[in-house]
Amino acid sequence: MTLQFSLGSAAPATVDSACVLVGVYEQGVLTSAAAQLDSAAGGMIKRQVESGDISGKAGSTTVLFAPAGVAAQRVLVVGLGAQKSFDAARYQKVNIEAARSLGRLPVANAVSYLSEVEVPGRDSAWRVRIAALACDHAAYRYTATFKPRDKSKQTELAALTFAAGTDAQGGLDQAVAIAEGVRFARELANLPPNICNPAYIAAQAQAFAEAQGKVSCSVLDEAAMAKLGFGSLLAVARGSVNKPRLIALEYKGGHDGAKPYVLVGKGVTFDSGGISLKPGAGMEEMKFDMGGAAGVLGAFVAAVKMGLKLNLACVVPAVENMPDGDSYRPSDVLTSLSGLTIEVLNTDAEGRLILCDALTYAAQTYQPQALVDAATLTGACVIALGKHATALMSKHDDLAAELLAAGEETLDRAWRLPLWDDYQAQLESGFADVANIGGKSAGAITAGCFLSRFTDGQRWAHLDIAGTAWEEGRKGLATGRPVALLAQWLLDRSEQ
Ligand code: BES
Ligand code: MN
Ligand code: ZN
Repeated sequence: MTLQFSLGSAAPATVDSACVLVGVYEQGVLTSAAAQLDSAAGGMIKRQVESGDISGKAGSTTVLFAPAGVAAQRVLVVGLGAQKSFDAARYQKVNIEAARSLGRLPVANAVSYLSEVEVPGRDSAWRVRIAALACDHAAYRYTATFKPRDKSKQTELAALTFAAGTDAQGGLDQAVAIAEGVRFARELANLPPNICNPAYIAAQAQAFAEAQGKVSCSVLDEAAMAKLGFGSLLAVARGSVNKPRLIALEYKGGHDGAKPYVLVGKGVTFDSGGISLKPGAGMEEMKFDMGGAAGVLGAFVAAVKMGLKLNLACVVPAVENMPDGDSYRPSDVLTSLSGLTIEVLNTDAEGRLILCDALTYAAQTYQPQALVDAATLTGACVIALGKHATALMSKHDDLAAELLAAGEETLDRAWRLPLWDDYQAQLESGFADVANIGGKSAGAITAGCFLSRFTDGQRWAHLDIAGTAWEEGRKGLATGRPVALLAQWLLDRSEQ
């Protein structure tokens, strides 16, 4: 069941709902909605501020049950932090925390007045969009591989209304489309690799295409790729019984003959490292190594659902990287689809080996207007930027600026790393045109440099999402990043 969103303009004290959400800043500064509730309820919120029960600390929440003078059954008071430093990132944070608290309450519907809180430089449509995406994110539950439970007794949030005028409707519509893409990406990435293998991803892409107009899907199997010369991708795939696929989705929302935007996503459904086997601890996280594939497919879903006026293609190389008697090995020399030869020095640097062939294929097939890949490519990226920022690499300042701006707009943020030629020397090989690893320094950048050798002449950017695609820990879920960033970038490119 998906959460239904709507807009409303009823007053907070009289609206009939299981819960109303209002914000309170630090130092007892009430938002307008909180002040209205407070006076309807005889000063109840102010008294709780004075008692210290409501601190206004950013993201803190307090539930008031059945307050007298208020029509709603509950009031959820959400701390907004200090008013003078309130900004876009804080706005998103408090909406996420509010949605989490709301999810723990036995309420089927709610009305949020957080969407009225002023955010410097942002309008009502933006506020509604961020709030709806935050709530949809919090409402997501992974249930696919649990024993079915009787959920009839639990009340779950089904409908959420945001206080906003009709000028925010466009923002809400975009949020609904992007949320569908985010959920698509999260579910795919969360599924275990014994279910979500290359054939499964291909089947999901095909199923989506069949359910939509203007979308078509083609899938290349191992034999078809062998014929075309995908020597690098196929080497990675050799060690697994789960055979590779090259998935291509196409959406025609623009003019006939207009060059498409093309997204490419790393789809390693499990990365054991191969013969250069990874250590056991934490290896289970490598089921998320198809997070790039999930991210670009989710962005594709969002773009289609928004009905964007542009042509778009999405290319997903899907493989499993396993050790086996038939696996590729360190010192192998591969001939990529581009003709460039690659010396394998580490079979765990497999992402770039499937991406290089997919990027070559994408460039040859589509002559893209812009080519953007997303990949959980390097542990070094996580060391450099941690879990908050996606790494962006591009030689095209204009394309980089577009993507950074889309990240800021959606708060699905990226940070740029250099792709200077100075780093290219680290990829020199004595036995092939290029080596697949660049030594211990600047690992995220040398991975980007490797890809740059296969995107000559393309308007290309690379997103390393190794730190941002999932939350760490035993219960860590896929985040759905960078669906929002990519969807926004495409939205900004769409004709009006
Ligand atoms: N999928 C990993 C990158 C990764 C590691 C993402 C940890 C998120 C968390 C990738 O295939 C990989 O193994 N990269 C190696 C490259 C190295 C051998 C040059 C890495 O980062 O260690
Ligand atoms: Mn690897
Ligand atoms: Zn990998």
